[in-house]
Amino acid sequence: MADTTNVLALEYPILPVLTQRRSPRAYTDQPVPAEVVHQIFAAASSSASCFGEQPWRYIVGSQSTSPEAFQKILGGLLGFNQPWAKKAGVLAVGVAKLAFSHDGNPNGWAKYDVGQATATLAIEATELGLQIHQMAGFSPDALRAAFSIPEGFEPVVVFTLGYPGPASALPDPLREREEAPRVRKPLAEFLFEGAWPTPANEQFDATNV
Ligand SMILES: Cc1cc2nc3c(=O)[nH]c(=O)nc-3n(C[C@H](O)[C@H](O)[C@H](O)COP(=O)(O)O)c2cc1C
Repeated sequence: MADTTNVLALEYPILPVLTQRRSPRAYTDQPVPAEVVHQIFAAASSSASCFGEQPWRYIVGSQSTSPEAFQKILGGLLGFNQPWAKKAGVLAVGVAKLAFSHDGNPNGWAKYDVGQATATLAIEATELGLQIHQMAGFSPDALRAAFSIPEGFEPVVVFTLGYPGPASALPDPLREREEAPRVRKPLAEFLFEGAWPTPANEQFDATNV
């Protein structure tokens, strides 16, 4: 069932699933079935990547099927993320392979591609009624040690995956943040056309005068 909590409102109508994706901190204790986890991570494969390298790797820890891995990932989170992240059914680490496989040269787009793949699987999760919440607040060294991640690979993100729950279950100020209106930059602030930083609409309007 679609998560219709705090849906994003933008200047243009976009795909509903994109407006429904959000980063919750409240989760129900409903376990995430392995089939659902696999379907969500399969969506990462649909992502584009530089040279078709697919440099993303994911380590998953599920409270129901791999609780030890779940605890290891949780232990790698910084203190402010642990209290709410431990309620999610699944935790995952996104890892980048830093060199191209075909020639061994550094892949300057590896992290970019992990981000794209993760954004893609986030949408699959939303479509299935789950959500992810990405975190920069983790210790790459702790996760490298906990999972013996080899040289040439770098943990770049950790995220929860689970069924979103009511914000009322969160303590303040997390509850307030969960319920706060979701605000985005207007298009004119990040879409330029013709010149930097001419908002696309202004440039368009001028050419029509
Ligand atoms: C790379 C990245 C790192 C983030 N790090 C954290 C974090 O450490 N802790 C946290 O609570 N949220 C974190 N977030 C979540 C953002 O705060 C959130 O995506 C943003 O406020 C937009 O909200 P929305 O995803 O609900 O639209 C992170 C998001 C991304 C993409």
